[in-house]
Amino acid sequence: MAAIEWSSELSVGIQDVDTEHQNLVRILNDLDEAMRAGKGSRIMEDILTRLLEYTVSHFESEERLMKESEYPKLQLHQSLHRQLVEKAVKLQKTFRNSGRRITRETMDFLKYWLTNHIMVDDMAFGKYYTKRSRAGSSGQDPEGSQP
Ligand SMILES: [Fe+2]
Repeated sequence: MAAIEWSSELSVGIQDVDTEHQNLVRILNDLDEAMRAGKGSRIMEDILTRLLEYTVSHFESEERLMKESEYPKLQLHQSLHRQLVEKAVKLQKTFRNSGRRITRETMDFLKYWLTNHIMVDDMAFGKYYTKRSRAGSSGQDPEGSQP
């Protein structure tokens, strides 16, 4: 599996979510590149930590948006997020304790998970959110909570 290339196919139609997904793709590609280049475990570990931290904060912001817009599949989506985080944490521990390198299989799993999750599960939310916004009940604060 080659590096993930961002395309409109991956856009869920919510700008903030798309931006965060683009950042995730970038970090994942960094990890992929480091693996291919045979970088040392210290560098790999740093990127993996960055990926994990960013993933957790991205999932939180996505779930917040789902709550605000009363997304009916929130619980299911949350459990998908939780499963991935648990798996990634386990991966990080194994990697740390054994000093083993990240394998191509692991990279492929992460890349497949992310693209599939975006195109199927996040896309379903994107459609829901866009439709709801168009209907005029997006749940967004009309005063604007942004600075
Ligand atoms: Fe998601």
